[in-house]
Amino acid sequence: MKAAARSRRDRIRAQLADLKMPGALEALDEVLAKVDGGATASEAIEELLGAQITLRNNRRLQAAMRSSRLPAIKTLADFDFSFQPSIKREQIDSLHELGFLERRENVIFLGPPGVGKTHLAISLAIEAAQSGRRVYYGTLVDLITSLEEAKSAGKFGHRLKTLTYPSLLVVDEIGYLPISQTGAMLFFQLINRRYEHASTVLTSNKGFEEWGDVLGDDVMAAALIDRLVHHCHIVNIRGNSYRMRHHTELSKALHAAPAEQRSSLHRPRRTTKTKKEKTTSRRGSSPPPNV
Ligand SMILES: Nc1ncnc2c1ncn2[C@@H]1O[C@H](COP(=O)(O)OP(=O)(O)O)[C@@H](O)[C@H]1O
Ligand SMILES: [Mg+2]
Repeated sequence: MKAAARSRRDRIRAQLADLKMPGALEALDEVLAKVDGGATASEAIEELLGAQITLRNNRRLQAAMRSSRLPAIKTLADFDFSFQPSIKREQIDSLHELGFLERRENVIFLGPPGVGKTHLAISLAIEAAQSGRRVYYGTLVDLITSLEEAKSAGKFGHRLKTLTYPSLLVVDEIGYLPISQTGAMLFFQLINRRYEHASTVLTSNKGFEEWGDVLGDDVMAAALIDRLVHHCHIVNIRGNSYRMRHHTELSKALHAAPAEQRSSLHRPRRTTKTKKEKTTSRRGSSPPPNV
């Protein structure tokens, strides 16, 4: 008697609970109200499933924020492309479709401070986390410190394995702080392990020509860059600091810094790309004139 009295709505509720779809369950009443108001069946199904996917993605993101050490939530939707016209929106949109992760390609954001390198690296990591991939974030210095600590504790192999495992590793801030030669060696081993195995997203305020100075070893820097850019998307951002957007005069003064510091910046060494990627990144990878 009781079962017969259960309305279809109740049965759907029970089904959604059975399928462990709390997002859809919560949205059910609202979606059915829309159907009563004239929404089509396909619209209703799309909205119901969409509610479940949103909840799942949020949960994945929360879990990733705990385990990945991402320092903040920065998304593509928050990024103001009109502020940074040197960035090709199509290239960034296409990277956020995550094909590069499938192909185990790398992404390198180059450019001066404040232009959105970390923001875009994090937004790629968030997109990847929401799609169920494991991601990990560290500044170059943090990653090297953790490798050095692991080495002294006799756990280097284990740490290397842990950092090789994520589908996407963000290595932020290459170039702000000098690295010891031993540290650079450990980092090289990490990149060597990840090479053609999983994608790494890197950011740097220094052009490749200066990575030898950053890593304290020109030969190793060349070998590192060689592996990194083999399958790689280079996004070269030229523009003003978003942090300084309300301080135009100060920003101009800082950008009038010594020419030799910037003349050699952001010139990629060698890269193999598909035709489409070549077109999308050619503009970004052309070196700035001596400005
Ligand atoms: N184009 C942009 N639109 C919106 N926010 C931006 C943009 N560029 C940078 N930001 C914000 O400005 C701050 C500095 O950007 P960040 O990505 O850390 O710069 P970088 O890593 O290049 O030094 C961050 O809070 C970031 O979210
Ligand atoms: Mg940064």
